[in-house]
Amino acid sequence: MDGVIIIDHPLVQHKLTIMRKKETSTAGFRRLLREISTLLCYEVTRNLEMTSERIETPLTTMDAPVLEGKKLVFASILRAGNGLLEGMLDLVPAARVAHVGLYRDETTLEPVEYYFKAPEQLGNRLVIVVDPMLATANSAILAVERLKQQGASNIRFLCLLAAPEGVQNFRSAHPDVPVYTAAIDSHLNDLGYIVPGLGDAGDRMYGTK
Ligand code: PRP
Ligand code: URA
Repeated sequence: MDGVIIIDHPLVQHKLTIMRKKETSTAGFRRLLREISTLLCYEVTRNLEMTSERIETPLTTMDAPVLEGKKLVFASILRAGNGLLEGMLDLVPAARVAHVGLYRDETTLEPVEYYFKAPEQLGNRLVIVVDPMLATANSAILAVERLKQQGASNIRFLCLLAAPEGVQNFRSAHPDVPVYTAAIDSHLNDLGYIVPGLGDAGDRMYGTK
């Protein structure tokens, strides 16, 4: 599908399978999410623009490659987005961070916003929005709208698991924002859960219900 990138690296797929298992513990789930997030981060940043910088090695000078432009912004959709955020910051420690606090109303499946804080000058930066789950996509669509209102114009959305309905809704709402995901599952059930999925990512990460 246009604008959708499946991250099918064997390590990502293996770790995702363990995360899906209902017997995987809270501690195990959290550790795997952190591990997998570094691999997802590697893929979502694969084609960043580069420039060069004149440096001195112990032997000589050279023009060496460095990232071009302003620092990246990672935008975490709370709370489960923080599970991806931590591993991504391990790889890109200088990234700026935006937090978008949303929860899904269980009956309407509409997102309710409770917090928003983003760095200034979003317009000059690549913003990578992270949330493990893209179900109806209502949360992701609102998060991206809020970031665009703050000036963001170069945005990528990164998740672990998506439903086909969510991918379609998201791409219709934000055709300029590519979606990176490790898998697109079968469908959403009547309660808006991804099937086969992995359950509620936030609850599995934090041991809540
Ligand atoms: C989950 C998930 C996404 C959202 C996806 O969060 O982390 O943010 O649901 O569903 P959608 O695509 O249908 O909007 P939840 O609302 O359960 O909040 P939490 O992260 O605080 O657990
Ligand atoms: N949010 C989750 O955490 N899991 C789903 O399957 C759907 C929404």
